[in-house]
Amino acid sequence: MLTESEKLHTLIHLSIELGQSKDLDILMEHILTEARRFVNADAGSIYLKDFETLIFAYTQNDTLQRKLPPNEKLAYVNFTIPIDENSIAGFVGKTGRILNIEDVRKLPSTVPYCFNRSFDERVGYSTQSVLTVPLNTAEGERIGVLQIINAQDQQGQVVPFLPEEEPMLMHFANTAAVALERAQLTRNIILRTIKMAEMRDPLETGAHVNRVASYAIEMYERWARRRGVEGKELTKNRDIFRMAAMLHDVGKVAISDTILKKPAKLTVEEFNIMKQHTIQGARLFLEGLSAFDRAAATVALNHHERWDGKGYPGHVNYRTGLPLKGYENPDGQPRGKSREEIPIFGRIVAVADVYDALTSARVYKEAWDETKVLKIFEEGAGSQFDPDIVEIFFSCLEFIHFIQQRYPDNRAENL
Ligand code: C2E
Ligand code: SIN
Ligand code: SIN
Ligand code: FE
Ligand code: FE
Repeated sequence: MLTESEKLHTLIHLSIELGQSKDLDILMEHILTEARRFVNADAGSIYLKDFETLIFAYTQNDTLQRKLPPNEKLAYVNFTIPIDENSIAGFVGKTGRILNIEDVRKLPSTVPYCFNRSFDERVGYSTQSVLTVPLNTAEGERIGVLQIINAQDQQGQVVPFLPEEEPMLMHFANTAAVALERAQLTRNIILRTIKMAEMRDPLETGAHVNRVASYAIEMYERWARRRGVEGKELTKNRDIFRMAAMLHDVGKVAISDTILKKPAKLTVEEFNIMKQHTIQGARLFLEGLSAFDRAAATVALNHHERWDGKGYPGHVNYRTGLPLKGYENPDGQPRGKSREEIPIFGRIVAVADVYDALTSARVYKEAWDETKVLKIFEEGAGSQFDPDIVEIFFSCLEFIHFIQQRYPDNRAENL
């Protein structure tokens, strides 16, 4: 449990820390972890406003988490609730009032809201104390609701939230809301850019890029931990990598409709043009100097390299597209990068992208069934793909399936 002075310290440093997460998913994870630590709470959720409704966008639950094998993540689906007084989160979203409920199982009959037990029943959890605060931006716009569940005393017994904790949590929520608003803006800019690039291909949506990015950071996290990358560095890399992975195919903006939308196999010439999307994507970030620009260029350039050196575009100067000196094959073509010559972000997105491409429908192909897809990875480990990454991929398959539910193709692209 935090002491008072630790709480103050946390509050002061919070805006700086939250300001560093630019990816929406990673920011929500950060906010909920800190908010729960602040009041020693077992669980919590973030709801984000989407026009007239609240979307259940992110959740944590230590009790349920402990029942999972180590490294497994809690699975949940995004559901939507109306912004009205019938639910607790809806009430706070509507009225903007903080709501501190000692025990949701004993709500007085005078309140308009009731507690929805379906989530508890489905997962086998017992919600008791619930503190729900509005997420208001500096301009006073409500962008969502933060809900903290089951405060605990030193012995781990569930207790009510203290009224004196409310102002601090409101302050926290205001800081979080500003960071969230900015991350939503960034996410929307990325999704809009991708939409522009892929507009001509209705089968590829924001859902696809969110899935690829989510698979990629999960694999990166496991890969990095094995190598002792932790703490702030890991958080920063995940943040940058998630956004960069979303943009892996943005270079397709430069590819003509006749090729991109062709509902059949590409000819050799067409495929050669298609391959340029790697270099074209990298060029979009040429002028940028930030770590994000470098990561995005790295991902775009390297996501079609192969572990065995048979991928593309190989050792090229991405400004000119020409082979690097000393890296030409006898035919004058650039030599493919192989093994660790391929940056880790590229090796990971290669696996994430192919998995998602095969399990989804494309203009040129049907979705494959899972068994057939997994075979590609069993057979491709050590040839097409980095065998370590394939091993990590198989170790997080359950999480990958959860991501598929979280970002289904038929949903709006706003999350
Ligand atoms: P994409 O649809 O996102 O596919 C990404 C990668 O997934 C492909 O990279 C490939 O490694 C893998 N993949 C996709 N479909 C299959 C498949 O049926 N079998 C196998 N073994 N692997 C598959 P690749 O091949 O370098 O293609 C890059 C992009 O080029 C594709 O991105 C897609 O936009 C386009 N493309 C590739 N082949 C065709 C095609 O036959 N027709 C059309 N219209 N586009 C194609
Ligand atoms: C609510 O806040 O009442 C709705 C979410 C839940 O099921 O706990
Ligand atoms: C994209 O990632 O921008 C489009 C989806 C794909 O072809 O992988
Ligand atoms: Fe690609
Ligand atoms: Fe892709």
